[in-house]
Amino acid sequence: MSINGDAGQAAMQTAIALGPDSWVPGGEPDPLIRREHGLVGAPVSRLDGPLKVTGAARFAAEVPMTGVVYAALAYSTVPKGRLATLDTSAAEGAPGVVLVMTHRNAPRMKPAHPFLTAEKGAAGDDLAVMQDDRIHWNGQPIALVLAETQEQADHAKSLLRATYQVEQATTAFEEAKAHARQPSAVLGEPKQEIGDAEAALAAAPYRVDLTYRTPRHNHNAIELHAATLAWDGDELIVHDCTQGVAHVAWSLAEIFGLREEQVHVTALYVGGGFGGKTLWQHQVLAAAAAKLAGRPVRIVLSREGVYRVVGGRTVTEQRVAIGAQADGRFAALIHTGTAAMTRHNNVPEPFISPARCLYAASSLKLGVQVADMDMLANSFMRAPGEAVGSFALECAIDELSERIGIDPIELRIRNEPDNDPASGQPFSSRHLVEAYRRGAGQFGWDKRDPRPGARRDGEWLTGTGCATATFPYFRMPGGAARITLTRDGHARVEVAAHEMGMGTATAQTQVTAERLGLPLEQVTFAYGQSSYPGVVLAGGSQQTASVGGAVIAAHRELVAELLKLAGHDSPLAGLHPDEVGGMDGGLCKLDEPGRCESYASILTRAQRAEVSVEAGAPPPLEMMNWSMHSFGAQFCEVRVNAVTGETRVSRFLGSFDCGRILNAKTAASQFRGGIIMGLGLALMEETQFDERNGRIMNPSLAEYHVPVHMDVPEIDVIWTDIPDPHAPMGAHGIGEIGITGTGAAVANAIYNAAGTRVRDLPITPDKLLATWA
Ligand code: MOS
Repeated sequence: MSINGDAGQAAMQTAIALGPDSWVPGGEPDPLIRREHGLVGAPVSRLDGPLKVTGAARFAAEVPMTGVVYAALAYSTVPKGRLATLDTSAAEGAPGVVLVMTHRNAPRMKPAHPFLTAEKGAAGDDLAVMQDDRIHWNGQPIALVLAETQEQADHAKSLLRATYQVEQATTAFEEAKAHARQPSAVLGEPKQEIGDAEAALAAAPYRVDLTYRTPRHNHNAIELHAATLAWDGDELIVHDCTQGVAHVAWSLAEIFGLREEQVHVTALYVGGGFGGKTLWQHQVLAAAAAKLAGRPVRIVLSREGVYRVVGGRTVTEQRVAIGAQADGRFAALIHTGTAAMTRHNNVPEPFISPARCLYAASSLKLGVQVADMDMLANSFMRAPGEAVGSFALECAIDELSERIGIDPIELRIRNEPDNDPASGQPFSSRHLVEAYRRGAGQFGWDKRDPRPGARRDGEWLTGTGCATATFPYFRMPGGAARITLTRDGHARVEVAAHEMGMGTATAQTQVTAERLGLPLEQVTFAYGQSSYPGVVLAGGSQQTASVGGAVIAAHRELVAELLKLAGHDSPLAGLHPDEVGGMDGGLCKLDEPGRCESYASILTRAQRAEVSVEAGAPPPLEMMNWSMHSFGAQFCEVRVNAVTGETRVSRFLGSFDCGRILNAKTAASQFRGGIIMGLGLALMEETQFDERNGRIMNPSLAEYHVPVHMDVPEIDVIWTDIPDPHAPMGAHGIGEIGITGTGAAVANAIYNAAGTRVRDLPITPDKLLATWA
């Protein structure tokens, strides 16, 4: 249950030991989840919407700085070895060039802590690039050019000439697999066995034993990775697009030998993160070049640059074997396999997570191995592990259901566990069967014809499929918040959180307004500054819970402080913080709503202009005592062209169970966005990796296909909206679950339509045609 690896696990254990009794399981649920009406859940439009559509929202590449110079990176064209020669003379003499930085003149920098190897580690790898002549991956930056304009930098970069001493590299997955090893525990233990699953499989009357393959995926956020930064003496000012302002500040401080407070990271708007907007070499090298040149630097990776420098989802090969009794109950569930990784990072693509929590099998065997390759470090990408793991598992369930002759939803319901199958812990809140029931009803599952390849309309074969979606609930330690309440009844919340387009600032404004009993207009949610309280990652679908836990704690401090200020002359005199809540612009006794005093009145009598409090969130003990997950049921209808092998998704419905939904509008967009990304995973996304030399061959949106509007049908999303009493606001994460299960729902629908099972993503026309030939 650790997202932080060994370091995080240790931190979590310490946190438990120090944890206050008030957050033990069974303690008081967040009072907000009891309110039926109000701002929580309302479909409030994004507060930053007008700023974005008018262009007033300023992204990292748009922040003005006087005297700024523009950076361009040159990339190695071999996977491993040394730079033999690097001729920079022509580039140095080119118009507008301010600096050419290589390993020969780059300032000394320490290697960074890869993501999840330290509390605030944020780096994609632990390599100190441009500190020597070594090449570690095909595409590694070998030089950075600074010039007065971007065009001049790009031109000068094209004049660089490099030759290499090439060394033997491992760039073929099959070859790497031969030396696969067990990774450390990141995002869950890499291995688990309950009972003798292989024996139970062999003895089961019904079984499937199948291999699924998923390819590499690259990050393609619309906003290219960018930073505008400058040194002010020993202080480093960075405008970045990042999912972790505190993480990036800490990491840059480590790299340049500074104190954390000397690095100021701002990220007000991020144009899509998905796990890719952490710390990669471009920010580090840009900061180094700014130091060397004594000028502010703007770096914007080209689309190709993102493919060369920013790691994505890795390639996997997975075995799913299920043994079942005649009544459908699972005797054995096996999910094992291998993912490619590098020796310089720590993201093992834990595809076994769904199998860990979804089904009640009498025996279980789970295992992820990693195969080390010489390539750009792979990284997090929306539902790392779950996105591709749920594809394999949920296809296998569908294949088994056909073999036994039990409807795939019914088969899943028969294997619904009472407690978490892997840990034995109770679920904090699990209403997956309810999500299936409601989804099936709205989708019209009862009208489905289970016979594959039986419905044809001209050239088009039609079919439907479903699959389970799941993503863990996380709340990382480190959440903190400051609330400042002014006499005019305005509250300002400050948290080092992030707005990447999800609607975080809007939903948190709603929650805070509800908690304080203020109208929306009287609340400001300020975020995106490393100087604000909290170590809050916009990742792991945990930002909402992390901020929520922190705001609960700060609010409690605020109420205590206000009661102190209210003193003996207040109607609230003598009340304990637990007895009052925020209502109608002030505090009221919870069971006596007439006994109130407004914030304005309290502060005026106390002759205070404002009151400001700061508090840290309690440690995430809920995760240690409960099995906590978001769940969903995905339903897909496809049309497959019997002549061309083209698949068109004609209908999609996602039915989710993610605790309380905080904003119906932004939540629907999160679910839909995840599903759309899942359609890409199912049908088109694939990084073409040349296994001879480790080169990514399709580094552009012209050749790396993502869904466009014409690929996306109307997508319905519904949810149970049942609050989890053990989570802040009763809410579970919703950012990643949409992509899970989607690939399998599409693959299962294609099978139902065409009678063809493709176990190798993406399901492109050539693969379907090959099986029909
Ligand atoms: Mo996500 S892959 O945790 O941004």
